Amino acid sequence: MKMLAIESTCDETAAAVVENFGEGVRVINSVVASSVEMHEKYGGIVPEVAAREQIKSIIPVITEAMNGENIDAVAVSYGPGLMGSLLVGVESAKVLAWVWKKPLLKVNHMAAHVMANWIVEKTQKIENSKTQSTGVPKLPAVGLVVSGGHTDLILMESLTKWTWIGGTRDDAAGEAFDKAARILGLPYPGGPEIDRAANKVTNEEWDKYKNLFKLPRPLIHDPRLEMSFSGIKAAVARMVENRSQFSEANPQISEESFRNLVAREFSQAVSEVLVKKTMLAVEQFKPKSVLLAGGVAANKKLRETLRQEIAMAGLSFFVPELKYCGDNAAMVGASALLRPEESEMDLRPDPSLAVV
Ligand code: KG4
Ligand code: ZN
Repeated sequence: MKMLAIESTCDETAAAVVENFGEGVRVINSVVASSVEMHEKYGGIVPEVAAREQIKSIIPVITEAMNGENIDAVAVSYGPGLMGSLLVGVESAKVLAWVWKKPLLKVNHMAAHVMANWIVEKTQKIENSKTQSTGVPKLPAVGLVVSGGHTDLILMESLTKWTWIGGTRDDAAGEAFDKAARILGLPYPGGPEIDRAANKVTNEEWDKYKNLFKLPRPLIHDPRLEMSFSGIKAAVARMVENRSQFSEANPQISEESFRNLVAREFSQAVSEVLVKKTMLAVEQFKPKSVLLAGGVAANKKLRETLRQEIAMAGLSFFVPELKYCGDNAAMVGASALLRPEESEMDLRPDPSLAVV
């Protein structure tokens, strides 16, 4: 079965054609247009601007993704996300499904992030500490979904039976990255900027100065699968406020090094909390695999740390290729093919849809 999938929940306009491939999904075409630069000068997303850009991009993006393919159904993300942005994708999908007389499938955007782990491509690396097997995740699995608006731990007993088992009580992990970046004077979106800054610190520099850059790890010793990230961000703000005193005491640390060192400690603190809570879920639910997904899954520290911990626990670890971590439509198609939810033609966006 071949699926046209459409994604327009936030500031990316994306379309893809995907098809079943073994137990997974193969991507035929995937196109992503982003309005992120337009939001940079405001330090965050301006919903009206995002919606206007969605309208401009949607037809060219779908046309490019279709590229003459014949499809059997149309899938679209209908939430969570921004109402104005969501409407563009949902209405386009409805019109296409109606005109082409094809089924319309509705997709939960957060579930789609998780389903990106079923995209099977030659280049995809699938790590298994024992067998180095390739294929799709074995269930039951624990999923950690980390994006700009959500941070959730889920237990996946089958492709359709998912239970929410934990998450953040305040900021989402991606939101914390974006806010911390803003405090550090880095552009929006902050996650990739902090990641880059953090990776500029050499191990030697880190060993020398790490004691000067301690940030909290909220709730890390709490046995519940509950997380909190707003405190780490507040501690970054205090560090930056006290910067001049810090410079007097440590004149050898340049402004740029200061920023990179804070970024490294911040990435480390957020990753440690996420990894600790995921490992708690592993102990509790004894899954066969652990899946990482969402925009923050692109973070180097997080990918590496979680991969190592999961390998030590003898489980399989899955994380999408970088291009399928952030918002894209291939993941939407994967979700529609493997856990289809057919929709009526009166589908409406649901901006506050939860992952399960
Ligand atoms: O999943 P996504 O593309 O959109 C939402 O559904 O929210 O996630 C976007 C989030 C942003 O907060 C962005 O800063 C963060 O993912 N992000 C990262 C990295 N790349 C993107 N956070 C940390 N490290 C990264 N490399
Ligand atoms: Zn997303």
